[in-house]
Amino acid sequence: QADLIHMFKGIPFTTRSSLELLKSLDTFDAREDDVLLVSYPKSGTHWLAQIIMQLYTNQVTLTSPIEFGDILKLEELKNLSSRRIIPTHLDYNMLPMNFKNKGCKAIYIIRNPKDTAVSMYHYYKDNPYLPTIDKWTTFLELFLKGDVVCGSWFDHFLSWEKHRNDDNILILFYEDMKKDLPKTVKKIGMFLGINISDSEIREVCKKSSFSEMKTNIEKENADPNHTVCALTSDKKLIFRKGTVGDWKNHFTPKQNKLFEEMFSNKMKYSDLAKSITYEF
Ligand code: PPS
Repeated sequence: QADLIHMFKGIPFTTRSSLELLKSLDTFDAREDDVLLVSYPKSGTHWLAQIIMQLYTNQVTLTSPIEFGDILKLEELKNLSSRRIIPTHLDYNMLPMNFKNKGCKAIYIIRNPKDTAVSMYHYYKDNPYLPTIDKWTTFLELFLKGDVVCGSWFDHFLSWEKHRNDDNILILFYEDMKKDLPKTVKKIGMFLGINISDSEIREVCKKSSFSEMKTNIEKENADPNHTVCALTSDKKLIFRKGTVGDWKNHFTPKQNKLFEEMFSNKMKYSDLAKSITYEF
C-alpha cells in the first residue's frame, strides 16, 4: 500500500501523479483566460465545476474540467482550446508561477473541515487508489496530522487565505452555497464577468442540485472523461450525501474537542476563519 502514496515538497500525493509530472507542473504554460477551480479534496469541487460549466455554456468554448496533477490528462489539458476550466487541489505555494504571473482567475471553495474529513474518510474507504483505512478514528488522526492526500487541510486553507484580497481570487463557502445557491451563482457570474438573468440563475441552480447531479450522473454511465476527480470515475464515490453537518454522525465529543482546539490554534491569525459562519 505504501506504493500508492509518495511525498512531493513535503505533501503526500498519489503515485498516479508521478514525481516527474509534479516537477514539471512549475513550467506549465498557463493562459490568461484560464479559470482555476481550487479546493482541498472533498470540498465541493464537482458542484462548483457544474455551476461554472453552465455559466460558460454558449459563451465560450466549453472544455471538460480536468484535474491538474493527473499525469494521464496533463497532455490533454495542453491541447485544449480556450477557455480552459482547470480544477486543482494544489495549495497556493505549489501552484505553477505561470498562473500567478498571468493573473489567472481562481475560485477557492472551502467546506467545514469536519465535513471534509468525513467525506474524505468515506472516499478513502472505497477507493482502490488510496491506502485502506478501516476506522474513522485512524483516519481522523491522519487527517489532523496532514498525512492524507494533498496534505494538511489547515496549511492548504492558510496558503490560499493569504491571497483572499487579490482581485483575481474569489473565495466561496460550501455551506453558503447550501444556504443560498442563487446568491453564490450570481457572485460567481459577476466575478467571471458573465451576465446572467434571474431565470438563468434559477436554471443553473436546478441543474446543480445534489439530487439532479447525482441522478443525471448515475444515468450517464461511468465515463472517466466526465469526472473532475483524477482518482475515480466511480460517481458513487463523489456524490455520497451532499449535506452540511454529517460530522455529527462521526465525531465523538472527545474528537470534536480535539479538532476544535487544533482549529483555534492553527487559525489564530486567520481573519477568514473568523468569518466562517457555519455551525462548527
Ligand atoms: S473531489 O473528489 O475532491 O473532487 O470531491 P469534491 O467534489 O470536492 O467533493 C465531494 C463532496 O461534495 C458533495 N457534492 C455536493 N454537495 C451539494 N450539492 C451538490 N450538487 C454536490 N455535488 C457534490 C459530495 O456529495 C461530496 O460530499 P459528501 O459529504 O461525501 O457527500
